[in-house]
Amino acid sequence: MSKAPRHLAVIMDGNGRWAKSRGFDRTAGHRAGTDATRRIVRACGERGVEHLTLYTFSSENWQRPPLEVRAIMSLLIEMVNREVDDLNRNNVRLRTIGDLSVMPEKAREAIESGMERTAGNTGLQLHLALSYGGRQEILEGVRSMARAAQTGRISPEEINEDNFRRSLYAADVPDPDLMIRTGGDHRISNFLLWQLAYAELWFSDVLWPDFDETHLDEAFRDFGGRQRRYGRVLEA
Ligand code: IPE
Ligand code: IPE
Ligand code: MG
Repeated sequence: MSKAPRHLAVIMDGNGRWAKSRGFDRTAGHRAGTDATRRIVRACGERGVEHLTLYTFSSENWQRPPLEVRAIMSLLIEMVNREVDDLNRNNVRLRTIGDLSVMPEKAREAIESGMERTAGNTGLQLHLALSYGGRQEILEGVRSMARAAQTGRISPEEINEDNFRRSLYAADVPDPDLMIRTGGDHRISNFLLWQLAYAELWFSDVLWPDFDETHLDEAFRDFGGRQRRYGRVLEA
């Protein structure tokens, strides 16, 4: 029984290895990865996914060689500018999570323009995680709670999962139901640490540029057969 998750989160990994295995430089892998991204965004819209969060650039990815970082930022700008019309045609709303303040100005402008131009769309919500780190997100939430406590707007005893959740980047978005990581590694790499608490996990050996609808459907089929217990016992 195949089932589209309401919220799908994806760690799009393997661009570099895809390029290396073909004798290309890593940038070519990132470019090829944008084709997979376009495919999967479209497929998710068609399958009724409400929220798609794509790990596009992590807070740790700034430590890559400057040339690679620059290439990724250029591709991001190019992709956002080129895809906005298509997103609008498909009723997709572009949003972001992460620390946009440290993004290069041109990239930030492209993203902000893309968000504005798609703000009225009511279909798939596409969340790009940019300069995103799960620990950083939680720490920012802790800081805003501490400030609220310091100024007496909340007492430490009143802090709970519900109001803490609202201090995170996308307060209105439900937690991911399914998290897919491509590229063969089995780790979270600082992605959505709070939100993935009860997500179903699916790891694929396929490198991101090769990931297509068939692979997505395979993950959705497996997801459809899973029993989510949330720590409880389900009576027969
Ligand atoms: C994911 O692919 C894209 C980003 C992290 C920006 P990688 O560039 O990490 O590819 P591999 O893991 O080196 O193959
Ligand atoms: C995670 O992939 C980040 C993105 C896909 C944007 P990485 O390639 O950066 O993660 P590690 O280094 O394998 O943990
Ligand atoms: Mg990687």
